[in-house]
Amino acid sequence: MAAPVSFSKQIVPILADQCLECHRAEKAKGSYRLDTFEQLLKTGDSDAAPIVPGKAEESELYELLVADDDADRMPKKADALPEKDIALIRQWINEGAKFDGQDDKAELTSLLPQKKNQSPEKYPQPIPVTAMALNGDGKVLVTSGYHEVLAWDPETGKLRTRLSDMPERVLGLSFVKGGPWLAVAGGSPGRSGEVWLVNFAKPTERKRLAQMRDCALGVVTSPDGKYLVSGGADNRIRCYTLPEGKEIWNLEAHADWILAVAMSPDGSHVATASRDRTAKVMKTATREIEGTFTAHSVPVLSIAFAPDGQTLISGDADGQARPWGLDGKGVKDTTLRPAGRSAVLAVSYLDGNTPLTGSASGQVSVIDAKTRKTRSTLAKHEDRVNALLVFGAGEKQKVITASHDGEVRVSSSKDNKELGKFIASPGW
Ligand code: HEC
Repeated sequence: MAAPVSFSKQIVPILADQCLECHRAEKAKGSYRLDTFEQLLKTGDSDAAPIVPGKAEESELYELLVADDDADRMPKKADALPEKDIALIRQWINEGAKFDGQDDKAELTSLLPQKKNQSPEKYPQPIPVTAMALNGDGKVLVTSGYHEVLAWDPETGKLRTRLSDMPERVLGLSFVKGGPWLAVAGGSPGRSGEVWLVNFAKPTERKRLAQMRDCALGVVTSPDGKYLVSGGADNRIRCYTLPEGKEIWNLEAHADWILAVAMSPDGSHVATASRDRTAKVMKTATREIEGTFTAHSVPVLSIAFAPDGQTLISGDADGQARPWGLDGKGVKDTTLRPAGRSAVLAVSYLDGNTPLTGSASGQVSVIDAKTRKTRSTLAKHEDRVNALLVFGAGEKQKVITASHDGEVRVSSSKDNKELGKFIASPGW
């Protein structure tokens, strides 16, 4: 006979991926939670026992997995689970629904099998940089790796450390002000999404804030270090308090993927860019939507607040960047046209509210907000510029740009001189 099904090894991964987002302490749909084993056994609104050991067909949880009616079936608003997952759950219940963990009050996610390190020691080819972040003093630059986050000395391009067991693709990174926490967003496309808080000084100390069914595409923390906001392929934006990582709200803010998130310099506002062709601004504390910007006629790929906190810039798939106000109204007749006319994948600002864009053609353009034309170009990359960040002020202001071919460049914004470059992949 085949070995009995293991709850922690085989069932928890399914529940964590497919069910947890709607059934946990902060959000218990149908008054039902399955964030601990103890909770999993308790009945919700229906008063039907979710699990009757030995009897799958009498267990509400199982019955809801195989319900014919889409409206009743779990996971709600999604395809039914794959047959093999349903069969495993059925077998586990029929075998007595045994708990093989230590503590039935412990978070189920703590039972998830530890992934073994899946990152290559040396990369066979450079990995695209899809996200990066700089710590407060500018001495540590983190970039996205495969199942890991890579930390570099941005001046020398020397690898400092590798944070392993991270999402397959890392799509958002943000240091929490004051340290030691780093926010990491990502996932495996079409399969799972994750948002983590990792102690940069002690990477085994980490907390999974969210688990979704598709990738988390962006994360940002407020400049005052109080909030964390993430957005992703479930069209939702989630807001957490720091350093606890407690979810305070969760909103389906868009009709399509949220591709980028940004926060105002004072942390009071959050902005989102979406494939639904709109961008939005909302209040961080209350999730109240203050403005919806609808002037882009194609997906909005990137977004940033101006240092003055009063205007934003959003970049689109058509090669346009547009400035607008917190009320969602465009600043009249000011479409900016970065050099190259290709998708604007990253936006930011230099001193003096001067817009900066990174595009699919590899160009990084400094834009004159008055004439709306490119004033100068910095760091021409050979591949799409996925991420850019601005560090410091005045004469010493630096721009760090990263591209799909794995290259990171550091330039001076004063004279556009290149100060350094390296390939952000171990072994290169
Ligand atoms: C998108 C949100 C969502 C997801 C994902 C989800 N559920 Fe639900 N679930 C609900 C809602 C809402 C209800 C309340 C009943 C209803 O509206 O059908 C519910 C009710 C239930 C109930 C009945 C509780 C009771 O006693 O009334 C069980 C059991 C349940 N879900 C299990 C699961 C399992 C197992 C999964 C994963 C395979 C899952 N759910 C995924 C939203 C969700």
